[in-house]
Parts: sequence; C-alpha cells; structure tokens
Amino acid sequence: MFLLAAVLALSAQSVQYVAPAKTFVLQLEESTYALGVNDLNRVQHVYWGPRLQRPADFTPPRAAAAYAFESREGMTQEEYPAFGGMRYGEPALKASHSNGIRDIVLGYVSHEISGDTLKVRTKDITADLFVTLCYRVWPRRGILARWAEIENRTSQPVTVENAQSALWHLPDNTGYRLTYLAGRWAGETQLERELLGPGRKVMESRRGNTSHQANPWFALDEGDANEDRGRVWFGALAWSGNWKITVEQTTSRQLRVAGGMNDFDFAYPLAPGATLVTPEFHAGFTQRGFGDASRLLHRFVLTELAPDRRAPKPRPVLYNSWEATTFSVDEPGQKDLATKARALGVELFVMDDGWFGARDHDKAGLGDWFVNKKKFPNGLGGLIDHVHGLGMQFGLWVEPEMVNPDSDLYRAHPDWAIHLPGRPRTEQRNQLMLNMALPAVRDHIFKVLDDLLTQNKIDFIKWDMNRHISEPGLDRALYVNYVRNVYAIIDQLRAKHPKLEIESCSGGGGRADLETLKRVDQVWTSDNTEAFDRLRIQEGFSFAYPAKVMMDWVTDVPNMNGRSTPLKYRFLVAMQGSLGIGANLHHWKDADNKLAAEMIARYKTIRSTVQEGNLFRLASPSAGALTANQYVSADGRQSVLFAFLDHQQFRQNLSAIRLKGLDPLAVYKLTTIDDKLIPRQREFSGSWLMGRGLDFRLTGDYDSTMVILEKQ
Ligand code: DGJ
Repeated sequence: MFLLAAVLALSAQSVQYVAPAKTFVLQLEESTYALGVNDLNRVQHVYWGPRLQRPADFTPPRAAAAYAFESREGMTQEEYPAFGGMRYGEPALKASHSNGIRDIVLGYVSHEISGDTLKVRTKDITADLFVTLCYRVWPRRGILARWAEIENRTSQPVTVENAQSALWHLPDNTGYRLTYLAGRWAGETQLERELLGPGRKVMESRRGNTSHQANPWFALDEGDANEDRGRVWFGALAWSGNWKITVEQTTSRQLRVAGGMNDFDFAYPLAPGATLVTPEFHAGFTQRGFGDASRLLHRFVLTELAPDRRAPKPRPVLYNSWEATTFSVDEPGQKDLATKARALGVELFVMDDGWFGARDHDKAGLGDWFVNKKKFPNGLGGLIDHVHGLGMQFGLWVEPEMVNPDSDLYRAHPDWAIHLPGRPRTEQRNQLMLNMALPAVRDHIFKVLDDLLTQNKIDFIKWDMNRHISEPGLDRALYVNYVRNVYAIIDQLRAKHPKLEIESCSGGGGRADLETLKRVDQVWTSDNTEAFDRLRIQEGFSFAYPAKVMMDWVTDVPNMNGRSTPLKYRFLVAMQGSLGIGANLHHWKDADNKLAAEMIARYKTIRSTVQEGNLFRLASPSAGALTANQYVSADGRQSVLFAFLDHQQFRQNLSAIRLKGLDPLAVYKLTTIDDKLIPRQREFSGSWLMGRGLDFRLTGDYDSTMVILEKQ
C-alpha cells in the first residue's frame, strides 16, 4: 500500500531524477522531456515526445561513437553544446577569456530539483566558467521553459560571443517540416511552411527589437500534421531584442533547434563574479496538430504570463484617434470623437500621437513628454474628465525610447541617443533611439512617465517604438541592457500604478513575444488595418499568441492598399480578437453608426469566448477563398463561428463548414446575425455540427457572417 502510494507520488512529480539512469525526467500531462549525464560526464539530451509513463524504463545515456571525420562530441545529442572540441554544429555557447582561450567544454557538476524547476550545474573542464542549465515545467499547460545562467568565476573578464537559451533536439529523422512567422511592416506574422533538407535555416532579428520581419516562434512536424492531427514540436522565445532561432538538420539525420539572443554583433562582457541569464525559451509537444499547439500556447499565455492571469478581465472595446486625426489632436476634437465613440458602446478612448511637445508632424517633439499647450491649453485634465464622465477609460500614446533631433531633450542630451562617436547618426522617421541601456536614460524615462501617470488619471498607455537600431554604440552590452531596462521601466510603472494597462506597439506588430506579454495587456497587431489583409496577419499571429492580446481595429475604406470591404466584414474580421475602432467617426453615416452599435453590443456577448476560449482554425485564408474560425468558451457553453468569403466564382458553391470542439451529444441553439445560414432550423446536435456541418449562402466579394451557438 505504502509502496503504491510512493510510486504514485513519484509519477506525479513533474521533475524526477532517475538515479540508476542518471536521467532527469520532466513529466507534462501529455509529453515527456528527458536529459541525462552520459559516460563522458556531459549533459546529453535523452527524449522529447509523447508522455512516457514509466521513468524506470530509462537507461543511462551513452555518448555516440566517433567515425571517420565525425567526433563523439559532434555526434552526441548534447543538451547545451559549447564551442569547443570537434563540434561544428550551431553552438549554444561561445566565449573568450582574456588570455585568448576561446573554447569551452562543459561537464556535469551537480543538480537541484525544486518543485517544477530543475537546475543542472555544469562547468568548463579547466576554467571556472559555470553554466547552469535551467528548466521549468507547467505540467497541466503542456509547456516547459529552458534558459541558461552563465557565471564567470574566474578572476579575468570573459567575453560571451554567443549565449543561446536552449538547444532542442527532435528525434533523429529526416522529412521534418518547419512552420514559422515572417513578414514586414504592415504585413507581420505571415505563415510560412517549408520542408527541411540538410543545412541551417535561421530566423532572427538583428534590429534591436522583436521585429516585423520575423517572430520568435517555430513549429516542426513530420510533414503530415494538420490542424487536428500529427506530432508537432513548437517553441516561442521570450525576448524582445536581437534574437535568433536556428533549425539545423545534420547530414546524420539529427534535427536541432538552437534559440536565444542573436550572436550577430554580440560580445557581452562578463566581469569576474558576474552572471549572464539568458531569456526563456518555451516549448511544447502535441500529437494533435497545429491547432492544439496553438491552444496550448494561448492557454499558457493567458494563465501563466498575462498581467491579469490571476483575475482575468475582458479587454475593453477601444477607440483610437490615430487614423482619424493623425497629429492634429486638440481638446475639442478629441472630446467630440470620444462622445461619438461612447455612443457606439466604446469602453476605452485612446488619444494617439500628437498631444505633446512640438509634435505637429513626425519631425519634432519625441522626447518632450509634456502637454502641447496650444492643443491642450488646460492640460489633459479636461479631456480625461470628459472621457471618464462618459463612462470610458482614458488611454494615451507614448513612444518613450525615441527622440527627434528637433526636441528639447535632444538639445540637452545629444549623447543620450544611440550612436558611434564621430560617425553619422542615421535617422529613420526623423528620429533617433535613446540609449535605454544608460542608467541615466532609464531613470529619466521612468520619471517622465511616472510623472505623467501621477499627474493625470491615465488608465492605459500605448507604448510605441517606430524605428530599429543602427550605429549601436561602443558598449557591447547595449543590445541586452537596452531591452532589460525597457522591461524594468514597465515593471516599475506597473508596480507603482497597479491599475495601469499597456498596449505594446512597434509601428504595428514589431514587438510581440512572450516576454513582452508578461508585461502588457495587448499588442497592436499591425498598422495594416485593411480587413482582407488582416485575415492572414491574424492567422499567423494566432499560431503563437491568443486572441485576447490581438488588437484589431475597424477602420475606414478604401484602406491603405486601396481596397474597400463592407463595414460588416470589417467588424467581423476585427471581432476575432480584441475589438477596437480606428475610423474617423465624423465621417460615419447613421447607417454606419447603427451597424457599429449593433456589432459592438453583439461583441460584448461573445468576447469572453473569443478572448479566453479555445480557437479552432477551420479554413485558412492562405488555402482558398473561404476563411473560417471558431471559438469555444473554456466551459464549452458558448461557441462562435466567423466565416468570410473573399470572392466567389459563379455557381461555385461553398462546402459545408464543419465545426470542432463541441460536445457531440449536446444540442446547440444557433443565433444568426443575417440570412446567410441556409438551413432554417436553429437547433442542432454537436455531432451534426461537427460531422455534417452547416451550409451558408456567402456570395460575391467580401461576404461574411457570424453564428453564435449556445449549449442547451
Ligand atoms: C505607429 C503605430 O503603429 C500607429 O498606430 C500610430 O500610433 C503611429 N505610430 C503614431 O505615430
């Protein structure tokens, strides 16, 4: 009896050390990850895949054999291979000592298990350079995180030239397929897929932030996974600076994924006694395809990372003034917009760029975070009181990391801008970046923002960042300390102003990653608010991040690419995330206002399902003219189906849309918002909805519909 209890207790532990096998077993609800110490005293990867129920099955790991030109260390699945010996793959770590020695060979020293965390201490074979491999598991969420702590215990400085967070190994095989997110400004998070052959595929940012061009997320499958089935290994890096994920298929059928801070122009000085802690690299495994991989990440963000994780709150419906007024903001104009927004049901009014300094255009003002007295003679108080008086929250745009050369701040502190002495300072959007790595800059920015929040009743800030780094300064630690100080300022602000909510924006979706999502309530997904383009941007975003943080605005047409879609279509696209309006409400007709008020009211009845529920991608915008997404509330009681037809060829009828994630035995009552659903019946069993599906009459161009299902 006691023995059985002891065995059960052991198997319930998320981190176990199987001493006879010298193996650490990380148990998640549906997957297992294992590493061990091999016969050469090196830490070796052992297993990552479906859950193994019996840790006692593990046998001691053994280093691989050498042959011909291949070394033992090069062929072994080392958990964190440093540059040293005959290792030619992507290294996890590279560093130089001041005496010129620049190889590292790490041996196991000790380990420590504490709850859901494992720390395995390793050390270079001769130098006092310690590397602790850190693991944390969230068994119920199906996610684990890895990071490394690199400690210089020598008496000399060490320069770290490459410090990855983790190197993941997949089972030896070929035929893997990589899914990743690439893009550009106004075209972020485009889903890309390709079969891997031998060699390296690098996804990265060298731009100082997460970037529009690539997003630090990957998924690998065996070439046959779909939304519902197939083995998928996936990961997301928690870092908003230069990052790199390298997927390497070796010619010996090994598949490795290294990820962490980018080693591009990287040379981090590690003084004696100092430790460099790498960002966390989160990952998971599922046998239920890309849909489940996304849902695991979504749930993880919502329940473990998000600032409101302990007491989740629905995201309010937002209005943002940017597309309506650009820099021409003033008190009467903003009050007018706020009144109109409130009449539609908006809950959070955000004044965007243009309210401060000499900010009449994008050539001046950044850095001078005091109210422009011409536009707001009495400060922000009048507008804020008006917005609060209407029953809305008030939000304000800021871009704290930037400075225009035409600003009082720059005139006073030209050296605060990132630059290389004596070299030109490249301006983009007429601005330079402040060196946030400098303590004086960090303290100044914190104080300015703190004063702004203390003196005004601001509920929300949109934190923007509209350029990337260049001429990166003499301090080689800048790339890292810049990002850490941005995090520190946000953390300090949130601690001092606990009710403050934040949107992360970088000219659209340039700063969306798991470390940012620990600190912000939502992300501005893209400056491209054109609804049809948005379907693809949102699809890619949804592979990694939950709908709740995906901010979507309804804006005016024709939009930035000249396309015009119906207002209903624009609303339904935006209602698939956190809904906002960015249109010029002065131009809206009565019919627009009526439809908008109806859609916003409707959204409020489904938003907890969209924002906190489970997403099922039913039809991809990249696969055909039909896009369909379905959300099922966490308790299964409500579900919402969105369907969009971009264009139709005459008499090319649509296939039935088959739903997912429902209870086959339950009956669902359907509510429609239009006449697009063909069957007249409004009650169906879950088995019918998932097996037979629903027929719709979607026709012409940019048609759309939504159906709400309530479990009876
Ligand atoms: C870029 C953002 O993405 C826009 O929404 C807007 O805030 C502008 N910056 C303002 O300069």
